[in-house]
Amino acid sequence: MTSFVPPLRKTNPHLPFGDQRTAPWYGHDIISVKEMSRKDLEYIFGVAHEMREMVARVGSFDLLKGKILANLFYEPSTRTSSSFTSAMERLGGSVIPINEVHYSSVAKGESLPDTIRTLECYTDVIVLRHPEVGAAKIAADAARKPVINAGDGIGEHPTQALLDMFTILEELHTVDGLTVTMVGDLKFGRTVHSLSRLLSLYGVKINYVAPEILRMPAEIITELDEKGVSQAQYDVLTEEVIQSSDVLYVTRVQRERFKDTAEYEKTKDAFIISPDTLTHAKDKMIVMHPFPRVNEITPGVDEDPRAAYFRQMEYGLYVRMALLAMVLGKA
Ligand code: CP
Repeated sequence: MTSFVPPLRKTNPHLPFGDQRTAPWYGHDIISVKEMSRKDLEYIFGVAHEMREMVARVGSFDLLKGKILANLFYEPSTRTSSSFTSAMERLGGSVIPINEVHYSSVAKGESLPDTIRTLECYTDVIVLRHPEVGAAKIAADAARKPVINAGDGIGEHPTQALLDMFTILEELHTVDGLTVTMVGDLKFGRTVHSLSRLLSLYGVKINYVAPEILRMPAEIITELDEKGVSQAQYDVLTEEVIQSSDVLYVTRVQRERFKDTAEYEKTKDAFIISPDTLTHAKDKMIVMHPFPRVNEITPGVDEDPRAAYFRQMEYGLYVRMALLAMVLGKA
């Protein structure tokens, strides 16, 4: 299935034709951050900020009453799956969760396009996590309803990157001029692939700290080089790097991405952030992590006010509320 796009997909039938610009994201897929502009981000974060205020004020409201989300997960998830569910329900909509693909017709060999074409008969928007790079694009090409990529293998995780950027803005009030240090599995880490691309829209410096076998892919470094982003690679997390960082973005070494278990065992504890690591870090630095974590941040860091990772998860709710409202033409 490649390029079937029904004619009315990108327009909002609830609006007069000339007013489509007032709901510019209606019907759109969210597959990659590659096409996003700084203006897009400002719009999304404006809506997310309003969602945050509305949740604080009233908890839930009926913006998406009657709308249904299919939450289709071919890989495990706690945060992405439950925050999309919470987002839809806080907006008055409902969710069909399909986490156990072994108990759905996927187990009988049903193709991804057929599964998507089925679910869109019953729902208004589809959130998809899949182990293969490019799966979200295949799903979007098959679908007439909006598809949101919740992680496609080692490819991208656009909604995570959006919530990461929103976290930085809510916590530090700017992105321009910051030094962001990414630590851990930068090769297979889809979150850092998407995040580095979004950071490239701003005036940042990015440090990559990873064992040689887990370095940031060369094509991403080249892509950012061409945009003039200042980048540096390290294989150890030096005191100098920590002291210069405004954001320390730590990632898990992902056992599930390794073919060779011995390689995983050798690298899994390459970097462990403890309270000692942060002794000389800036007072206003924030420590982020997409989670789940294993050993890479010790629980002793959690009480440090610079540990932003649990707040980061909460920001994810507001960003996902914003995205659902936008693609369903209500923001
Ligand atoms: N950050 C993230 O994607 O977490 P989950 O795998 O729990 O969804």
